[in-house]
Amino acid sequence: MDTITQMPRIGDNAPDFTAVTTTGMLNMSTYGKGSWMVFFSHPADFTPVCTTEMMGFAMEKTFFEENNTKLLGLSIDSIHAHIAWVNAVHEKTGVLFEFPIIADIDMSVSKTYGMLQPGESETAAVRAVFFIDPEQTIRLIMYYPLNVGRNMDEIKRALLALQTASTHKVACPLNWKPGEKVIVPAPKTLEALAERKNSDLEMVDWYLAKKSL
Ligand code: BEZ
Repeated sequence: MDTITQMPRIGDNAPDFTAVTTTGMLNMSTYGKGSWMVFFSHPADFTPVCTTEMMGFAMEKTFFEENNTKLLGLSIDSIHAHIAWVNAVHEKTGVLFEFPIIADIDMSVSKTYGMLQPGESETAAVRAVFFIDPEQTIRLIMYYPLNVGRNMDEIKRALLALQTASTHKVACPLNWKPGEKVIVPAPKTLEALAERKNSDLEMVDWYLAKKSL
């Protein structure tokens, strides 16, 4: 195994950087200020799975905007390759990748974010998705290999679950979907336990109680 480099973890401050992107030079923290961010990598431009994924993100532009979320892509390709690919997909399909895509040709951002996983590829980023909150804290990380595309429904669901949990100080159970009941934190005192027993929460046991928002 290669030397283990420190990978970003859930709860870490998202490492800041400035990079060349398809929309110009971009500073990550400035771009994300006050918004959630979904920061994702793809292995290579002009490849089929990546094209479907990037089209998926582009077609959900309104969803992400309505949920105060900025999109940021990355691959270890040149800015010229990015521009040619974005233009080709636009001409062939009418779908335009309007969000910035980092040209991480020196691999610096990929390495910082653990997107370059040498056991999978020495030269191409894996399919990573970082969910970063408005305070620049990493809240969820997904890593997919080169040969399996991501699931846009799950990306959207996870984003809404993170936002819901954060706003309402609750947790989201297995397979939670927007509109469904959420889990309220377990009581931490005997008094709170007694209150809970008399509450109208949906309760499996004192530590597993749900409510509607
Ligand atoms: C693809 O996006 O289709 C792909 C990219 C790199 C390796 C394998 C597949």
